[in-house]
Amino acid sequence: NNPPWPAYRGYHEYSFAHATMQSRLPTILGKAIDDVTVTLNQQSSEEIITDLVRCIERMDVLMHDLSGNAKLRPIVDDNEGDVALWNKEIAKYFQGKDFMNAPWLFAEAYKYRRLRECFSVSKFWKDYDVFFRQKCDTFSRSSDAVFELSMRFAEPFKIAEGMSDDEKMEAERLMFLELTQVCLWGNSTDLSLLINMSEEQIKALQSTGGEHLAATEKNILGNHLNDLWATVKELRGKTGGRVDFILDNAGFELYCDCVYADFLIQSGLASEVRFHGKRYPWFVSDVTRKDWEWLLNSLVYGQLFPKATEIELGSLRKLGHRWKEYEQQGKWVYEQHPFWCTGYTFWDLHSEAPDLFLHLSKSDLVIFKGDLNHRKLTYDCAAPASTPFDVAIGPMASSAGAPKVASLRTIKSDVVVGLGDQGDELAEKLDKEEPGWKISGKYAVVLLSEGRPG
Ligand code: F6P
Ligand code: MG
Repeated sequence: NNPPWPAYRGYHEYSFAHATMQSRLPTILGKAIDDVTVTLNQQSSEEIITDLVRCIERMDVLMHDLSGNAKLRPIVDDNEGDVALWNKEIAKYFQGKDFMNAPWLFAEAYKYRRLRECFSVSKFWKDYDVFFRQKCDTFSRSSDAVFELSMRFAEPFKIAEGMSDDEKMEAERLMFLELTQVCLWGNSTDLSLLINMSEEQIKALQSTGGEHLAATEKNILGNHLNDLWATVKELRGKTGGRVDFILDNAGFELYCDCVYADFLIQSGLASEVRFHGKRYPWFVSDVTRKDWEWLLNSLVYGQLFPKATEIELGSLRKLGHRWKEYEQQGKWVYEQHPFWCTGYTFWDLHSEAPDLFLHLSKSDLVIFKGDLNHRKLTYDCAAPASTPFDVAIGPMASSAGAPKVASLRTIKSDVVVGLGDQGDELAEKLDKEEPGWKISGKYAVVLLSEGRPG
């Protein structure tokens, strides 16, 4: 059940896998240790302090293993719902493998699981999130784009009166296309890549205006936006469909996802949206339940933007209230299945998490956000850029019951598929003319697989 192309590995020096395993991961871990040190210095109780010191010691061991390219050992049984899945995968496929010669996707995920273990075996710090400060901080530095969206979308979406049916449909289509792009490009603010971003850099990445969107559409190299609209516009006929988001990053990206999901609800296209997050800190910026609650509550009660006007703050509060109401009414549901924090790719989702597969197969559309989810969908392997998306995602397209799957991803790592018949030539041309095009986040794909009814 594997694709015919080799998976990227840390020792592939030409790939981003190498740079990540060699230097990005140790840097990320080093910053995480700094964060815990700040927290440590703010404690007063001896019992709590010594417990945290032991967490730091475990992080030091992990740092040592990572930089010394140690063999991957089993995960300690810390009562997490995913331990069995982790150790089964290690035993079955990665006995004796180390950080560099295990597939990159697995080794990188394993590092975040080991980081989790540093805290999950403690007494007082089980749920500590070493990335929480960074996630909150970046959102509060995103004020321009945050208010640009809230000022436009705080008032519920309504089609102007007096339009013909065709005109209404067209207005809705344009809004859908614009918000799909907002949701897509929200993925470019990724903390694991942009550790020391300036305010200006954040601003450039997050500009959301209409003109900007028209220009950025040409950077969507595999573009199924129109097919996506054709799928979504059918949902209203079913008195609203169910759309699932497999979330990626917290803060600004999650905020964009919510703006998009809000439109789907208000327009009546969807009647239910399910958001799938991670159970613990993952790939630096991914959404946990705490991040989800933090965002909704900060919009309503927070004081993140001291320079904002009363009207701007009012627009944020309005969004926050509405979104919290959706949750209370069951129109929005936040979920966190253990499978999302494993090293498995989604080629194994139907076999390793059949309950989750069944659950997703009841959805009308499953939207996977971001680079990591895309790597997992495509097995993170060296498939040619012309490979059709539904071929590249294997069982997630071909198993009986596979739902419609969309991937909204800004390209930040090696695997690129779905670029169409001329895709290989295009990729080659970019390789020559713009080395680094696969990691800059400048380009994107919006790809759709039609699924297979059960
Ligand atoms: O470390 C590499 C990576 O896994 C890439 O997938 C990407 O560069 C980043 O981390 C995560 O990006 P995203 O948040 O879009 O999944
Ligand atoms: Mg992420």
